[in-house]
Amino acid sequence: MIVTTAQLFKLAYGKYAIGAYNINNAEQAMGLFRGCVESKAPFIIQISKGARKYTDKRMLEAIIRSASEIFPEAVFAVHLDHGDEETCYDCIKSGFYSSVMIDASHDPFDKNVAITKRVVDAAHAKGISVEAELGMLGGVEEDIKVEEGNACLTDPAEAEQFVKKTGCDSLACAIGTSHGAFKFKGRQSLHFDVMEKIKARLPGFPLVMHGSSSVPKDEVDRINAAGGKIKDSMGVDPKEYLPAAKLGVTKVNIDTDGRLVWTRVHREFFRDKPGEFDFRPPGKVFMDEYTKFIASRNVLLGSAGQLDEVRAKLKK
Ligand code: G3H
Ligand code: 13P
Ligand code: ZN
Repeated sequence: MIVTTAQLFKLAYGKYAIGAYNINNAEQAMGLFRGCVESKAPFIIQISKGARKYTDKRMLEAIIRSASEIFPEAVFAVHLDHGDEETCYDCIKSGFYSSVMIDASHDPFDKNVAITKRVVDAAHAKGISVEAELGMLGGVEEDIKVEEGNACLTDPAEAEQFVKKTGCDSLACAIGTSHGAFKFKGRQSLHFDVMEKIKARLPGFPLVMHGSSSVPKDEVDRINAAGGKIKDSMGVDPKEYLPAAKLGVTKVNIDTDGRLVWTRVHREFFRDKPGEFDFRPPGKVFMDEYTKFIASRNVLLGSAGQLDEVRAKLKK
């Protein structure tokens, strides 16, 4: 059942976070649906612009429709990740997406507000939710002076103004994370102080944490032992997901970790079976491993076990 992110957020806010997982192909879709159904968790499927281009945007739609038939108990939102204005309108028009992200965070505040407001008006006219972004993720992890680092974090007073002016349904905030496998040097912690201040100004309003992969050390070690060269990686401490959820972080974006599972499985498979050239055996291992990974994240997010209640409440 496809629902909006706003519907999911209303049920989860302050109690647990919904995992938002990127997909690009059928194997990721199978692992994602299986992992969420087995752990009984509602979830968000994220599709990036790059994912839409990887095969064809219609291919991912077809995969998701089929997965929804294979797993009829699944409850999820279909969300455009990091959209520009044009891609948002394309997704809104498609009738398939239940949620879009307009990412104009690199523009000045007023321009970000204007673009976001246009997308909100177009999306809300069709019952689609909108995530916007304020603040800048990149650079926060750099080993530079704290004051400079903090300058990139979302300003709580600006966040309040931004939400009031745009009418967006959720807000991606810069709270100490960054995309990819190299998030922190030294200090590994989210900025709970910033979350608290934003929550005080926007009580009940869902916040989104991008760059939430945990980059497990054992995963990276196995990749490197099988020929990889990933150095100095560090992710978010997954034990911080739930405390963040209690402060309003209702959507937690995880993509890099799934790529690491894929890389570990394939590196180890072809290292151990150098004569193999059928891609299905490692593909099967990946689907099993990704299923387990997704279920484990949902437990950490607190979304595991919520599916029956969510379905019952949404049907009312
Ligand atoms: O935040 C970006 C996501 O990890 C998606 O990455 O644009 O390479 O598909 P991508
Ligand atoms: P990671 O790179 O930490 O997985 O973040 C993904 C993300 O924020 C997608 O929008
Ligand atoms: Zn992101």
